Amino acid sequence: MLATIGYISNATEHLKKGDIENIVKDAILYNKKHGITGILYFANGKFLQFIEGDRAEIEALYQKLSKDSRHNDFVKFHDADISERAFGEWDMAIRKSEDYKASELELFNDIFNIYKLKVYKTAEKNRVKIKTLIDIFRKPAVNL
Ligand SMILES: Cc1cc2nc3c(=O)[nH]c(=O)nc-3n(C[C@H](O)[C@H](O)[C@H](O)COP(=O)(O)O)c2cc1C
Repeated sequence: MLATIGYISNATEHLKKGDIENIVKDAILYNKKHGITGILYFANGKFLQFIEGDRAEIEALYQKLSKDSRHNDFVKFHDADISERAFGEWDMAIRKSEDYKASELELFNDIFNIYKLKVYKTAEKNRVKIKTLIDIFRKPAVNL
């Protein structure tokens, strides 16, 4: 069954310069082999990632990810069965804040704040925000 997981995390002091490029290079190899697609956003020392694929595969990857000392403070904010992929073209796309407009960055900050404060369990309107977030991430990156 196809599913998606979205989480945020904080980079730790173990994350070295150039690590992100290496993470993505390795991730692409692994994800391709395991039918996983997704997007990784990194800004201001924080990660936001969506991984999608067979449920057993993404749960196995999430287990690996959550043991990686280069990030911590995980909040899984999205976990759903899906009928089609949002990021099917990308084994793992990487995005940074420079790729987005101010209004889009505001939504990202919103998501980080909502989930850090853990107020998400009650808020139905966050579903709309997550959908908007996914729609923004689906667009090809443009450097503005
Ligand atoms: C923010 C972040 C995102 C990552 N995304 C992926 C990913 O999409 N796919 C992947 O295989 N590894 C990813 N990794 C690397 C894994 O955490 C882990 O290092 C890798 O799967 C190798 O794990 P292993 O040594 O237990 O086999 C990511 C690491 C970080 C810090």
